[in-house]
Amino acid sequence: MSKQYSVGLTTGVFDVLHPGHLNLFENCKKVCDKLVVGICTDEYSIRYKNKKPLFNEEERLRIVSSLKSVDSAFIVSIDEVEDKTLILDRCRFDVLFSGSDWQGSERFAHTQAQFDEIGIDIVFFPYTAGISTTDLLDRKRL
Ligand code: CTP
Repeated sequence: MSKQYSVGLTTGVFDVLHPGHLNLFENCKKVCDKLVVGICTDEYSIRYKNKKPLFNEEERLRIVSSLKSVDSAFIVSIDEVEDKTLILDRCRFDVLFSGSDWQGSERFAHTQAQFDEIGIDIVFFPYTAGISTTDLLDRKRL
């Protein structure tokens, strides 16, 4: 039986893959036939998160591409992350997914206005509490 959406897109840095990322991918895949992931560049992470990823963009692409919940993945430029309509030239997605930490942000409000015109939905899934790449890298193991 086909799902609610045909092709879904989500984007992110996804450095040091963790269960919060997996929850997002698995939630996405429950509602779309094909899940496409846009991997943000190292330059994006340095500019917006003020940190160089532990795994570079090619390594992160390889790791995310290997997941069974992910149908395809590619690296997205900073311009494409800021204006997600640009990604439509590479992939005709009909829904954009994100973790709920982005809900209410200026970037997504702008994207929502753009997508309302062309009939693309935005769906937020609950951000998994208590885990992030930043926390993991700061965590002491003993
Ligand atoms: N995400 C999530 N739950 C988490 C962590 C991330 O749902 N616990 C989602 C985010 O909402 C986003 C995507 O995963 O849609 C990519 O998030 P990213 O910023 O790469 O992950 P973080 O672990 O939050 O990274 P950082 O600590 O570097 O900000």
